[in-house]
Amino acid sequence: MPRLVLPNTKYKESYMSALFEFQQEDLWPDLDREFLENRFDDYIAEFEKTRKGLGLPLGWVAATEYWWVEGDEFIGRIDIRHRLTDALKKFGGHIGYEIRKKYRGKGHGKNMLKAVLPFAKNLNIEKVLITCDSTNIGSQKVILSVGGVLQDEINNEGRDEPTQRYWVEL
Ligand SMILES: CC(C)(COP(=O)(O)OP(=O)(O)OC[C@H]1O[C@@H](n2cnc3c(N)ncnc32)[C@H](O)[C@@H]1OP(=O)(O)O)[C@@H](O)C(=O)NCCC(=O)NCCS
Repeated sequence: MPRLVLPNTKYKESYMSALFEFQQEDLWPDLDREFLENRFDDYIAEFEKTRKGLGLPLGWVAATEYWWVEGDEFIGRIDIRHRLTDALKKFGGHIGYEIRKKYRGKGHGKNMLKAVLPFAKNLNIEKVLITCDSTNIGSQKVILSVGGVLQDEINNEGRDEPTQRYWVEL
């Protein structure tokens, strides 16, 4: 059974393959594969700092990253931003996620989001905001599967598609 874990070097090999796949579809553009290959321990340590809210870039909030894994295989990732900023209210919300292409359409997105919600509740978040592009049918179904209620659809500067904003009561 897949489960959520905190980032761990144990998954490096699988994670590096996932990174390559995501970049093939223009996701995770900011991650430097060579850097990660050489400094994976530092990368993992950064997640811990971000979780504790230490050394955050200006405008960032503390966030907890989880990996959805089965055995040694990395299937996807999801993170919880501990609070909303004005920017996150417009785009990004509390939670963001991706599932590797080869694992999509098998229920992982729905199961992973469902599994992370108790962790959001533990962070004293009462209502979770999740945003997605109006064209992202897969993500919309994932959000609806945990009781997401559509608030509205807004235009965000620099984005081609309108952004849908959903709330999930915990
Ligand atoms: C969105 C995403 C996380 C969904 O993950 P997933 O593991 O495929 O989700 P599930 O298998 O739980 O599928 C959810 C539903 O959406 C459907 N679906 C998934 N991808 C779809 C797509 N590209 N087009 C239409 N429907 C899709 C599934 O068939 C399923 O439908 P069902 O409820 O009728 O059974 C995944 O497609 C992904 O990582 N996409 C790229 C990154 C991304 O968009 N992240 C979210 C940003 S808001």
